[in-house]
Amino acid sequence: MKTIEDLQVNGQRVFVRADLNVPLSDGRITDDGRIRAVAPTIAKLAAAGAKVIVASHLGRPKGEPDPQYSLAPVAARLGEILGRSVSFATDTVGESAKATVAALANGEVTLLENLRFNTGETAKDDAERGAFADQLAGLADLYVGDGFGAVHRKHASVYDLPARLPHAVGDLIATEVGVLKRLTEEVERPYVVVLGGSKVSDKVGVIDNLLGKADRILIGGGMAYTFLAALGHEVGISLLQKDQIPVVLEYLERGKANGVEFVIPVDVAISASFPDTKTHKPVEDFEVVDADKIPADKEGLDIGPKTRELFAEKLADAKTVFWNGPVGVFEHPTFAEGTKAVAQALLESDAFTVVGGGDSAAAVRILGFDETKFGHISTGGGASLEYLEGKTLPGLAALEG
Ligand code: 3PG
Repeated sequence: MKTIEDLQVNGQRVFVRADLNVPLSDGRITDDGRIRAVAPTIAKLAAAGAKVIVASHLGRPKGEPDPQYSLAPVAARLGEILGRSVSFATDTVGESAKATVAALANGEVTLLENLRFNTGETAKDDAERGAFADQLAGLADLYVGDGFGAVHRKHASVYDLPARLPHAVGDLIATEVGVLKRLTEEVERPYVVVLGGSKVSDKVGVIDNLLGKADRILIGGGMAYTFLAALGHEVGISLLQKDQIPVVLEYLERGKANGVEFVIPVDVAISASFPDTKTHKPVEDFEVVDADKIPADKEGLDIGPKTRELFAEKLADAKTVFWNGPVGVFEHPTFAEGTKAVAQALLESDAFTVVGGGDSAAAVRILGFDETKFGHISTGGGASLEYLEGKTLPGLAALEG
């Protein structure tokens, strides 16, 4: 793959596909990690005299402008981080984009509006995506792919556009791929993986692959209740994917056969309803019960104190750790203890620690941990999981050619 250093960028219009899909609450950015992660690439290109055109998606709008998914707040934050003004085009390939790009002087930066305001960006149809990629290509001379969080998407700006312009890989993607290679090639053992998040079905591929690689897999978050149900426990009104129970049972069997230890919660924090993560209203009926004693009318929302200790024990001697997905509803303080405990255990271990994923990466920062103390905090959730599944990622394949 070519790098930025292989391109002659001075005076050229350089299209940077970033992943600026940051969490927003009432129009306010709650975690700017992804903006900070790609800022050095943008700064480097600007310093080298490029006219930098940054583009990204935000959320999942339906192929037409939708103000709640506007990248305008991101342009403002990017400007603050770079310490320079960043102009903003109110469309992606229309009059505003063309005029904004035409006005760029060498070393200046602009951000286009959300790429997903156009149906062509995410279209399944190759011709439709290609037509949008043609329009994007008309704006630029060179392409730099640095949106690691989106490389698993076969989208116009990720997959089709690099084929239309001389291209290179950005520094963020290069770093992310370097780290993930360390987890797939000669991994230092014990290799412990912590998986959380809501759905087993999102993690099926990665568990399948890890069964041949990891020494221990710790299961938390909403997906833990499908594991508990598979073990024959009542899970009340907890999140449950019944259709995944046979898959989980098969994994537990294969784990036994391959010497991979699954660590499932032994106690859980419960309530009769999902907590209010906006107002943080106190949870009156908060209670901790053993994992096999969840009442029929309650749902599990975090791992309990015994499980926190168990997880810390299982992480203590690790040499490599990959963590994807919060183990509880960390957005409410009552159910943040489990996720805090996992982060703390990672900080205390001597292992090479990788926090993968939008949610767990944001959790680490929102809960106040010093992100520099972790080995690597990835900007890609789905992307890092698919990489570890051994899949070919369209956005990486496109940069190879
Ligand atoms: C992410 O947040 O994982 C990436 O930005 C990709 O977003 P998507 O799942 O909406 O494609």
